[in-house]
Amino acid sequence: KKVVLAYSGGLDTSAIVPWLKENYGCEVVAFVADVGQGAEELEGVEAKAIASGASQCYVVDLKDEMVSDYIYPTLKTGSIYEGTYLLGTSMARPIIAKAQVEIARKVGADALSHGCTGKGNDQVRFESCFAALAPDLKVIAPWREWDLSSRESLLDYLAERNIPCSASATKIYSRDANAWHISHEGGELEDPWCQPSEQVWTWTNSPEQAPNDAEYVTLNVQAGEVVAVNGEQLKPYDCLVKLNEIAAPHGVGRVDIVENRLVGMKSRGCYETPGGTVIMAALQAIDELVLDKASRKWKEVLGAEFSHLVYDGRWFTPLKDSILAGAEALSSVATGEVVLKLYKGQVTAVQKKSPNSLYSEDFATFGEDDVYDQSHAEGFIRLFSLSSRISALAKQ
Ligand code: ARG
Ligand code: SIN
Repeated sequence: KKVVLAYSGGLDTSAIVPWLKENYGCEVVAFVADVGQGAEELEGVEAKAIASGASQCYVVDLKDEMVSDYIYPTLKTGSIYEGTYLLGTSMARPIIAKAQVEIARKVGADALSHGCTGKGNDQVRFESCFAALAPDLKVIAPWREWDLSSRESLLDYLAERNIPCSASATKIYSRDANAWHISHEGGELEDPWCQPSEQVWTWTNSPEQAPNDAEYVTLNVQAGEVVAVNGEQLKPYDCLVKLNEIAAPHGVGRVDIVENRLVGMKSRGCYETPGGTVIMAALQAIDELVLDKASRKWKEVLGAEFSHLVYDGRWFTPLKDSILAGAEALSSVATGEVVLKLYKGQVTAVQKKSPNSLYSEDFATFGEDDVYDQSHAEGFIRLFSLSSRISALAKQ
């Protein structure tokens, strides 16, 4: 019996390793996904996994693939969950699940395990992806089975087994980081009447602390993807990292929301998505120039639908392919250059141009032009509002 555990090196998954061995009598292979969460979390993670009792530990670099194959496709749909959340945790789950299944195949495992709680979205996302990719593998979710409900009990559990662990007894927030964002939940945030203290935020300056001088950043966009930052051509992952560095000091990308979880309850989350917020603003600015009214409206529909697909963990479905094909088509014209101004928590696209721009000063201006004859507007309005006229006449 062999199980592959999605392991992070944190307290929960450290305790899950011995727990699985004792309760399922199985060999545990640790799998760590490098999604750009940073050196702090990844340093020494293999040794930690082995010290917890894992037979092997695989660290898989998913950074480039996550940005190219999960984040950009989602961005091209314009997805923003419930109008505010840029889906940082949600987008990372399918790629982690997929890589985990690949390790399971490689080592010939019969089960998959994760450290998600039984109350959240992540358990649904992981297990829905497992169901689509490896329906034959058993899934073990220790949080739904064990009675180790507090950090103290987890620490005691490890201490009894002489497993070293540097985690502290008190940890206020539940955080999840990758190259796109970091999320914060728990602690005082559970009270939506409580303003987050500054210690909640870990990536960005507060707008108050941000520099008093605005900074301008230039992005080049090619078919819906950022290809250069301030004139420097970079691969998608490196563009994102660079934009995080540029935007975070300005306090850009902080969000504080109450959201609807898939499992029914509301939860309060604070998110920091500095580079992503800049990228989103740039892509929107290009869309303003290149998409006609009906296309933009259609993209709004795609984005609204896809934001739920991603949030709800339905990545490996035909619906995903269908929506992404539509978004890809709309993005084929999304090429251009945008200058964004970063200032005290705000990002504003202040200059935008595109070879595919449909904007014409000549047509929009109130002066004379050749394509638009104002006298035609009268007939247009007459027919456009005809049904209103007919029903009003009928009521008279
Ligand atoms: N509420 C966000 C989401 O569902 C963030 C979840 C954070 N996950 C975590 N394991 N800390 O996408
Ligand atoms: C968890 O409960 O494991 C994290 C939060 C979530 O999945 O929504």
